[in-house]
Amino acid sequence: MSIGRLNHVGIATPSIDDAVKVYRDMLGATKITEKWAMPEQGVWVCFVDTPNSQIELIEPYGDKSPITAFLAKNPKGGQHHVCFEVPDIIAARDEMRAKGATVLGTGEPRIGAHGTPVIFVHPKDFGGVLVELMETPKEAH
Ligand code: CO
Repeated sequence: MSIGRLNHVGIATPSIDDAVKVYRDMLGATKITEKWAMPEQGVWVCFVDTPNSQIELIEPYGDKSPITAFLAKNPKGGQHHVCFEVPDIIAARDEMRAKGATVLGTGEPRIGAHGTPVIFVHPKDFGGVLVELMETPKEAH
């Protein structure tokens, strides 16, 4: 296992539209995707590009969104997770488990917002930070 590129920082927000304004007007972000729904993940998603990484804005979608509880505790939104790239998601999952970490859900990778498989590792294993591991897109780097 060796840690890859910081792909993005996930930020939960009650309103992607409002959050986009902050990144655009306060920080001058110009490369901002349209938001789109990921019903299976229970979120709306939008990416704000920075020169070396991305901010992933996520807003609840539907009644059973996994970020509803987070926003109940953090009504204005806040940092939700960080996402690192790994070369092989299955190898990364197995190594996380072998090292005693808790992989969330069934542990079967799901297709993330970038179209590559992802897993999430419990914050208790990373000093309180929810960590997303994402297989590096094949065509990207
Ligand atoms: Co993410």
